[in-house]
Amino acid sequence: MSLHVVFKSDNRQHATLQLPEQAQTLKPSSVRVRASLITLSSNNLSYARGGTRLHWWDAYPVPGSAPAPYNGNSAWGIVPAWGLATILESTISDIEPGTTLYGFWPTSQHAVDLKLVPGEVKGHWHESSAHRAVLLPLYNRYNVLDVAGRDAESLGWEVGIKPVLLAGYVLSQYVFTPDAKVNPPVHPFGGTEGWGPDVADLSKSIVVSLSASTKTARSLAYYFYCRPARSGPSGFLQVTSSPGALAEAAQKFIPQFPVRAVSYEDVESVDAWLGCIKANRIVIADFGARDGTLDKLLALISNSDALKGLEVTILQIGSQQKIYTSGEAETAQAAVGALGKVRTNTSAIQETAIELQGAGPYFAEFTKRWNLWLGHRECAAPDLKLVWGDGVAGGEGIEGGWDRLCEGKVKPEEVLVYRLSTIAKPGNAPSESRR
Ligand SMILES: NC(=O)c1ccc[n+]([C@@H]2O[C@H](COP(=O)([O-])OP(=O)(O)OC[C@H]3O[C@@H](n4cnc5c(N)ncnc54)[C@H](OP(=O)(O)O)[C@@H]3O)[C@@H](O)[C@H]2O)c1
Repeated sequence: MSLHVVFKSDNRQHATLQLPEQAQTLKPSSVRVRASLITLSSNNLSYARGGTRLHWWDAYPVPGSAPAPYNGNSAWGIVPAWGLATILESTISDIEPGTTLYGFWPTSQHAVDLKLVPGEVKGHWHESSAHRAVLLPLYNRYNVLDVAGRDAESLGWEVGIKPVLLAGYVLSQYVFTPDAKVNPPVHPFGGTEGWGPDVADLSKSIVVSLSASTKTARSLAYYFYCRPARSGPSGFLQVTSSPGALAEAAQKFIPQFPVRAVSYEDVESVDAWLGCIKANRIVIADFGARDGTLDKLLALISNSDALKGLEVTILQIGSQQKIYTSGEAETAQAAVGALGKVRTNTSAIQETAIELQGAGPYFAEFTKRWNLWLGHRECAAPDLKLVWGDGVAGGEGIEGGWDRLCEGKVKPEEVLVYRLSTIAKPGNAPSESRR
């Protein structure tokens, strides 16, 4: 079975290993699963870059049967990815072999075991293995997905978009809540301290989205366009290499506020447009802008008579689609403190929202809003297209996708999805299911 590993201190280096399947007895309260369909995006580069600090390398240790130098888990690791997997065996009475789980998987075709405890909502589960206790809660959440009647295209969007759409959803719904009486505001780093209704209120704030064609940023734009009238933002500027596609998406929704999409080259000329919008604050949502863009924007604000008095809040959300040198990574970390950027953590926002709202209502609302996106996919992201790959090895597999991400070659309209094994249809349990 093929397994993809990445060198931890230089993420450009990667390899595909062929390992024999280990036939061990499945432990109690566990399921054995095989990833069936996963996605790769800039997000996975973040999992590799921050894999030691945020423990993403700990999700799926490299099996002990791997040859040197890939074994041992100190130099090489498995970058996890979002998607679907099929239950092959189960020692949990509520989960049948053949069930599809949505969650966080290894970029490999080898079977892995999860130790699960029931989640707060039927069909939701938490991974409870000791080695995964260090991961943020989002990455230990799994849920059963009913794939009956779902075609490949619809599952492709489920895998390629839903994981990053969550970030835009929680930002619009909870951090900048349209109605603080319904959803109390949540701090971008979780909790509620230091983030009251005044800070959450966007009705007098311009929002500038940097690297606006990342899928994460597109999801924020989509949820902004769906907000009730007068809940803001008062203006929305998107800075991107794809202004045409984003402008087209905005037009389909007839937003309740002025929207503009500009290229990176045009950032220096947006002061007149921004200056015409009545606002008392500028919120900069940085999804991973190209080098120098944030500095240019901040200089433009401080040099503009119309803008320089405005309060500026910078949300640190993502990083560029590239491999950072250690110097660049340190500079980026230092800029967070120097510019007073507010770090954003989707897992922490979601956990606070669940505490405040209750898991049942929280997941019911997110599922409803996700299904709306899926139903309106052609309006929400008219230029996006699924790019299908197969397996792990080679240019058409995970290997090829990883190379393209490292080189910044995945185009803004591409959503990479990889078929790793067959998705089991109901009543058609996989052959490995015999216990
Ligand atoms: N903080 C959180 O909780 C959280 C949650 C989710 C995601 N994130 C982060 O958000 C970021 C975006 O993730 P994603 O998966 O949504 O991204 P993505 O869709 O893979 O990003 C694609 C975009 O990257 C930009 N890009 C393409 N080539 C590039 C190049 N050579 N150099 C620089 N930029 C290039 C382009 O946007 P433009 O042309 O518009 O720049 C392109 O549309 C990641 O860093 C991810 O980890 C953070």
